[in-house]
Amino acid sequence: METTTKRAVVTGASSGIGAASVRALVNDGWTVVALARRENKLKALADELGDAVSYVVCDITDEASTRAAVDKVLAGGSVKALVNCAGAAFGKDPVATANLDDWRNMYELNVIGTLRITQKLLPALKQAPGGGTVLVISSTAGIEPYEGGAGYCASKFAEKVMARVLRLEQIGEPVRVIDIAPGMVHTDEFSLKRFGGDEAKAAAVYAGVPDPLTAEDIAECVRWALGQPDTVDIDSIVVRPRAEGSYTKVYREH
Ligand SMILES: NC(=O)c1ccc[n+]([C@@H]2O[C@H](COP(=O)([O-])OP(=O)(O)OC[C@H]3O[C@@H](n4cnc5c(N)ncnc54)[C@H](OP(=O)(O)O)[C@@H]3O)[C@@H](O)[C@H]2O)c1
Repeated sequence: METTTKRAVVTGASSGIGAASVRALVNDGWTVVALARRENKLKALADELGDAVSYVVCDITDEASTRAAVDKVLAGGSVKALVNCAGAAFGKDPVATANLDDWRNMYELNVIGTLRITQKLLPALKQAPGGGTVLVISSTAGIEPYEGGAGYCASKFAEKVMARVLRLEQIGEPVRVIDIAPGMVHTDEFSLKRFGGDEAKAAAVYAGVPDPLTAEDIAECVRWALGQPDTVDIDSIVVRPRAEGSYTKVYREH
């Protein structure tokens, strides 16, 4: 049984924003349980960060896998924060020809998966000393839709609505709900997965942009927001690189 009260669960912890958030939280004195499907990546992160990190393999689109992971987390002690980083974009096709499975998979992961694990951990979060926090990494795609992005944007709009309504429904309860909406973040895998491993298409997303955000930039938002007093709820953070005014208004050097 762990003794620290600053114990967080981070989903999507095997890469990108999730892995960076685990590092930032550990550096800030948190104990973290890292969740994702790829055990080798989780193990490498735990080996890197030592005793403050444990991990549980979990597919949040799978009910039994998530139930088992949550049971394991709760057997290890109380949980003060859930950081929902697991998510993805699949494809960038127009509505007229979009692949139904891409849409279905984005909904299953970004919306239903986030809902599934949030529901399961909510009672425990509310029992944490001082109260708990549900944090969602949504996206500016959940604020401004763009051509080719309808499926991803719709799922991120849904994720944002879920966070907002949860916040309203839990007023008076000891739980904060935080929504962090990043713009362009250059992580190793996000765009590659979106374009089915096509490296040229993935690289084009960031081409000529002087300084896209990094996973560490978002992790710092996570760390800072969670670090506020328990009674201070950072409802929403929208964070973009200086070079990005909107998805369609991006400065590129060539
Ligand atoms: N990169 C951006 O520009 C950007 C901008 C705004 C918002 N976001 C959002 O930020 C979040 C993280 O993005 P990222 O850039 O860090 O991408 P990433 O590196 O691809 O990270 C996605 C994470 O989700 C996990 N994941 C995928 N499917 C899962 C499943 N079924 N069950 C459990 N975990 C699963 C992946 O791990 P496994 O494959 O090991 O399961 C991985 O750790 C996403 O929600 C994304 O929508 C990204």
